[in-house]
Amino acid sequence: MTQITIALTKGRILKETLPMLAAAGIEPLEDISKSRKLTFETSAANVRLLILRGVDVPTYVKFGAADIGVAGKDTLMESGADELYEPLDLNIAHCQLMTAGIKGVPPKPGRIKVATKYVNIARDYYASQGRQTDIIKLYGAMELAPILDLADEIVDIVDTGNTLKANGLEPREFICDVSSRLIVNKASMKMKHQSIQTIIDAIAKAVSVSA
Ligand code: PRP
Repeated sequence: MTQITIALTKGRILKETLPMLAAAGIEPLEDISKSRKLTFETSAANVRLLILRGVDVPTYVKFGAADIGVAGKDTLMESGADELYEPLDLNIAHCQLMTAGIKGVPPKPGRIKVATKYVNIARDYYASQGRQTDIIKLYGAMELAPILDLADEIVDIVDTGNTLKANGLEPREFICDVSSRLIVNKASMKMKHQSIQTIIDAIAKAVSVSA
């Protein structure tokens, strides 16, 4: 039987992905949210799940350590995922990539400092606007950077806008919409075509039902 490995990430994406996998007959044999384990067998004897950091999902799938993965479009754009297939928009975990700055402070003209974990997206976006930047890589709590004068603006995902608001910031420019995508390793798609296509079709059906 063809073995299939699916890379997922904990949190909201996992919660919304599990019902779609269940529709494909793939259910973890134990409660992932209550376990420290990183691999899980499933009700489909040939399918196992990996629980990774979100940013690592494209890497595992790119190198074939996982055949399939679920990753945010933000993560895929940032990692430059052109060596992967992206057959499905799962239509979950919607948010937007935005620039943001201190509320009420007009955007600074000329070269600006931008703090973000999305260094590639930020560099490309500001360049596309003809604006010069010094990009400062952070791994979280980006909202602090403008307040402490580490940066003039940040680039981050915005959902409700509550995090920006709670930290005295306001959204400025819309970069793009984000949702979670199914990604597939290119070699796996050829070598394990039937098993993978069956999973994609079942998940696609679950996506269209929940849409
Ligand atoms: C994201 C993002 C913001 C927040 C935006 O963080 O970095 O902090 O969500 O959501 P809101 O607009 O609804 O307030 P997340 O909770 O995903 O954790 P992270 O900082 O680890 O990415």
